Amino acid sequence: MKPPRKLHIKSYGCQMNVYDAQRMVDTLAPEGFVETASADDADLVILNTCHIREKASEKVYSELGRLRLVKDEAARSGRAMNIVVAGCVAQAEGDEIIRRAPAVDVVVGPQSYHHLPQLLARARGGGRAIETEFPVQDKFGFLAAPQPEAIRARGISSFVTVQEGCDKFCTFCVVPYTRGAEVSRPVAKIVDEVRRLADNGVREITLIGQNVNAYHGEGPDGRIWPLGRLLRRLAEIDGIVRLRYSTSHPRDVDDSLIEAHRDLPALMPFVHLPVQSGSNRILAAMNRRHTVDDYVRVIDRFRAVRQDIAFSSDFIVGFPGESEEDFAATLALVTQIGYAGAYSFKYSPRPGTPAAEMRETVCAADMDERLVRLQELIDSQQSAFNKAMIGNTVDVLFERAARNPGQIVGRTAYLQPAHVMASADIIGQILPVRIQSLERYSLLGELAAAPPTQFAFSQPTHSSPMITGA
Ligand code: 5AD
Ligand code: SF4
Repeated sequence: MKPPRKLHIKSYGCQMNVYDAQRMVDTLAPEGFVETASADDADLVILNTCHIREKASEKVYSELGRLRLVKDEAARSGRAMNIVVAGCVAQAEGDEIIRRAPAVDVVVGPQSYHHLPQLLARARGGGRAIETEFPVQDKFGFLAAPQPEAIRARGISSFVTVQEGCDKFCTFCVVPYTRGAEVSRPVAKIVDEVRRLADNGVREITLIGQNVNAYHGEGPDGRIWPLGRLLRRLAEIDGIVRLRYSTSHPRDVDDSLIEAHRDLPALMPFVHLPVQSGSNRILAAMNRRHTVDDYVRVIDRFRAVRQDIAFSSDFIVGFPGESEEDFAATLALVTQIGYAGAYSFKYSPRPGTPAAEMRETVCAADMDERLVRLQELIDSQQSAFNKAMIGNTVDVLFERAARNPGQIVGRTAYLQPAHVMASADIIGQILPVRIQSLERYSLLGELAAAPPTQFAFSQPTHSSPMITGA
């Protein structure tokens, strides 16, 4: 048995990184590593980085500057500390990291996490190790599964990666370069993982992938299964009461997914469906491969099978060539759809992407101003959506004790946090809650004896604009 060593891991960016961080912890557990909350007393620090926008990748170098001092301090007190840079910055800028940050011992891309123990051994031997290949082997088959105690400690909701990489090549996006081509895990592997999670108390699974609804994994029957069929299979697993998936591309919404929403009560009626822009001209320049009308039709297909479905999205403002008219079209689309929430970003040119070669036409001040206008509109929709919950009785899946003593917090179908006064026994259960008030983004309520009412937010059943004249 190796003596325990302390591992501090810091993740930036998307949910995929949160999942990957857990799998790195699981892979290093047999090496004697236990997690610690601070870098200061760690024997190993892993920065799990994000490259999606410039701000995200800049953070890595400033954090590495700080860690260098911590590492020097540890060395002065006779303690060796190793620093690993993982994630998408590692993949995109591996050599640059080695050059700019001498304190870094290992650089490892997202496809090579299963090699971490060997890479660390090499670093301890005095060398520096870099691995950013896309090996052909399936890394998931080599990453250690979490121990039951680790699953229980992580709570009742878990991410499971089912698909990685992207073949869409939107012109602004680094994902096809950092995460590589689209790869789907086989159904049986996912079923095993979800079963293991469910056996250890997990009740909610979010299937994740950079383009999750492009999922096309091998089924146990030897055929290729789409996401809808996978969801159907997972809904049969004892203990799994809620299913979600993220992030989807509008073009890859197929009938199997719509039918899954129609038929599976466990599949939550809340879909993250990024559109990026409401202007056809900009969508074409972004190589999104769909028009505004295509997107609206996809939304309508979901709404036709589940009246209570709600949507969130991602938007980019200030893409090269975006005129005030294009931006107005984005605002118009947001108004037409009516979102429960959305993320919006200023365009950030990423080296190596086609858009980085385009002439930037929107000045910083206009970009700021557009972002504020868009966020104000989205915020107003989000607060209207949240306020509409008041007075309704809705199902809440309880997750953990809240900060206020005696309060337990859970989430509604729409991921809104909901607080009630109750005993901790309700953790892991779905119970009806009568919503009484809203505090910022949190709902407050009481456990209700009655079953939930059908939540009725006054959103259009169809999002196509009404025809008001001949
Ligand atoms: N600039 C700004 N936002 C971006 N996103 C992806 N690439 C860029 C970029 N170069 C946003 C998109 C995507 C989300 C994850 O990040 O909106 O959906
Ligand atoms: Fe990036 Fe999403 Fe476009 Fe793929 S579909 S290139 S992940 S924005």
